[in-house]
Amino acid sequence: MIHVSATPVLALRGVSKRFGAVQALTNVDLEIHAGEVVALVGDNGAGKSTLVKTISGVHPIDDGAIVWQGRPVRVHRPQDAQNLGVATVYQDLALCDNLDVVANLFLGSELKHGPVLDEIAMEKRAKELLDTLSIRIPSVRIPVAALSGGQRQVVAIARALVGDPKVVILDEPTAALGVEQTAQVLDLVERLRERGHAVILISHNMADVQAVADRVAVLRLGRNNGVFDVADTSHEEIIAAITGATDNAVTRRKARTSNGGDQTEVGGTDSKFTKEDAK
Ligand SMILES: Nc1ncnc2c1ncn2[C@@H]1O[C@H](COP(=O)(O)OP(=O)(O)OP(=O)(O)O)[C@@H](O)[C@H]1O
Ligand SMILES: [Mg+2]
Repeated sequence: MIHVSATPVLALRGVSKRFGAVQALTNVDLEIHAGEVVALVGDNGAGKSTLVKTISGVHPIDDGAIVWQGRPVRVHRPQDAQNLGVATVYQDLALCDNLDVVANLFLGSELKHGPVLDEIAMEKRAKELLDTLSIRIPSVRIPVAALSGGQRQVVAIARALVGDPKVVILDEPTAALGVEQTAQVLDLVERLRERGHAVILISHNMADVQAVADRVAVLRLGRNNGVFDVADTSHEEIIAAITGATDNAVTRRKARTSNGGDQTEVGGTDSKFTKEDAK
C-alpha cells in the first residue's frame, strides 16, 4: 500500500470554466496527493483537457479555487503553474524531431557555462535522469525522430521532470502506442509515483487506468460524477459513471437546481464524491 500524505498537494474546489456559450466545467472538485496516481476519465467533451489547462495556467478559472499544499493560489499563466511545480505533458508531445534527446530534455532550460551551452553537463544530467527513471534509449545523442513512439513518449515525460515538479499531468500518454510501448510508459508512471510525484493521468483506456491509477475521477458534461478507488471498483462501474448510467443524487440535484436559475454554482461543500455517492 502506498503512503499518501494527508494534505493534498493540489486541490481544485468548485472550479468552473466557461467558453462563450459553452460551460466546460461546473463546480468541479479534485484532490491529488504526493505519491498518488489519479486517473481523470470521461467522454469526449467531458472537460478533461479543460480541467488540465486550468491547472497548468493555459485557461484561468472563472470561479472556485486552486489550492496548493493547503493554500489558495492564483494560476493565471503557464509560468504560475510551472513556478508552483506543475508540469504537463500534452498529447502532441511538442518534441523537436531534428534535435537530439539531450537538446529536447533541456529545451528552454538549457544549462550554460557563461554564454555557451554546457553540453557536457546537460548530457550528464540527461543520462542521470533517464537512469533514475530506468528509461532505455539507444543514445542520448540521436535525434528524437529516430526513436519509437514509446521512446518519444518517455522522453517527453522525462523532459517534464527536468524541473523536478511535484505534480505531473499526462494527457493521453498511451493513446498512440502499441502494447509493449504502453507497458513501458505505464512502468514509468509507477516510477513517478514511487519517487513521490503526484500524477494526473488522462486516459480513455480502462486497462491502463486499472493498471496504474490509485483513484479514478470521472467527469461527465463538465461536472464531477464520482471518485473511485481503483482497487475495489469494477471496469463496469467506471464505465457506467462515464456514460451517466450511474448519475448520482448529487449530480441530479445540481442539474435540477441549475435549471432553476444561474446562481446555483456557488458553494461546493457538498460536492465531494465517493463511491458510496455514486451507487
Ligand atoms: N478553447 C475553447 N474554446 C471554446 N470551447 C472549448 C475550448 N476548449 C474546450 N472547449 C469546449 O469545452 C468542452 C470540454 O472540452 P474538453 O476539450 O475539455 O473535453 P475533453 O474531456 O478533453 O474531451 P476529449 O476526450 O475529446 O479530449 C467541449 O464542449 C469543448 O468544445
Ligand atoms: Mg481532451
